[in-house]
Amino acid sequence: MRFQKPKGTKDILPKDIHKWQFVENIIRNIMELYNFSEIRTPTFENTELFARGVGNETDIVGKEMYTFLDKGGNSITLRPEMTASVMRAYIENGFSNDSAIQKLYYLANMFRHENPQKGRYREHTQFGAEIIGSDSVSTDIEIISLAKEVYNRCGINKFTVNINSIGKKEERNKYIEILKEYLNKYYNDLSSDSQRRLNTNPLRILDSKNENDIKITESAPKILDNLSVESRERFDKVLKGLSDLKIEYYIDFRIVRGLDYYTDTTFEFISKDLGAQDALGGGGRYDGLSEILGGKPTPGVGFASGVERMILVAEKNNFNFTAKKPIKVYFITLNEQSRGISLKLSNELRNHNISCETDLLSRSFKAQMREANKLNAVYSYIIGDEEIKNEKGLLKNMSDGTQKEMPFNEIKNYLLKENAN
Ligand code: HAM
Repeated sequence: MRFQKPKGTKDILPKDIHKWQFVENIIRNIMELYNFSEIRTPTFENTELFARGVGNETDIVGKEMYTFLDKGGNSITLRPEMTASVMRAYIENGFSNDSAIQKLYYLANMFRHENPQKGRYREHTQFGAEIIGSDSVSTDIEIISLAKEVYNRCGINKFTVNINSIGKKEERNKYIEILKEYLNKYYNDLSSDSQRRLNTNPLRILDSKNENDIKITESAPKILDNLSVESRERFDKVLKGLSDLKIEYYIDFRIVRGLDYYTDTTFEFISKDLGAQDALGGGGRYDGLSEILGGKPTPGVGFASGVERMILVAEKNNFNFTAKKPIKVYFITLNEQSRGISLKLSNELRNHNISCETDLLSRSFKAQMREANKLNAVYSYIIGDEEIKNEKGLLKNMSDGTQKEMPFNEIKNYLLKENAN
């Protein structure tokens, strides 16, 4: 029987890995520039963490989690997102005692049992950043600006920042009543999903993709018109900060986000290059999450971006990902003795950070040359009988075909000198 990978997962093959490594390097470099530290948390958590943190009425918790009982009878869930895990770790490790503010980032795989389609997988990778411990508008602005910086450096320039504010919990609850009153008038015309959500999570009707729902909600009362003066002023300050940094935005009342923990600012980065799953990334403030998870009141803001989606968009824009460096030397060996010499020499070169490869299949001279070309080797180094006798190999420049004798005991210094120039 031949096995296939589970639906909605992918193999990232060697031919594509340089794209991933390129994006990961950009992320790590930028996070260092912004003074964020990496955090790694377990791939699975106790189910209750997500049920409480993300919210029972959300699609993620209601429909998409990989949840199972372990052998001890505990309910375990593969993480569908990281913010709840990061906040759990923040509280559990007493981070608030170490420093007033924590700036954390992650690059990790998430699991959601969704219907796979372009840009939507059952296992996906998120790059995310969280600033915990400050409610300053500067933190909202910093998160949006760092995301933009990462996108730009990955060749992603065409996207919009869609932003909204959903205010504080009390304001939102009041608004939800107003929204329900409006939507009730159109109950029969709403999609069945939205009819159900009217009772469970009415805000989510605003981001329904159903055409009729979109028409109905177009003229619904807007949350921005129902915020307190304080929340509205806060939102205006965020917008001003973005304008000052020349970050264009689009105020979008439909950005209510699918997770329960959000407060005040919510935003998404939308790319037309993605098709139906058009969110490159999204995030917002979550000032109440710490308390929901049993911690002290602690403000926070963050965002996460799908790395698969970032690569899809960069590829679509023909971005030139830096390719893997070619190897420096390919050893061509013709018998047992020359293979022994090549192992010794390649060991010495690798100890001096010079990459090399030897033939591991006892192939013919021609086949080894073909392999050296395939690997884009800068040089081949041929060790035949004559070369063994003279203790000199033939160093061949693979791009112009020139070759010269190079004693076994000089090749290392020759290549090191060349590297230094
Ligand atoms: P989210 O919007 O659920 O937010 O996911 C963030 C990003 O992950 C999405 O914009 C998308 O790019 C990517 N993504 C989500 N699901 C999939 C999937 N099935 N396949 C491929 N990519 C996917 C969160 O997870 C929040 N924790 C973000 C956050 C951090 N908010 C505050 N801090």
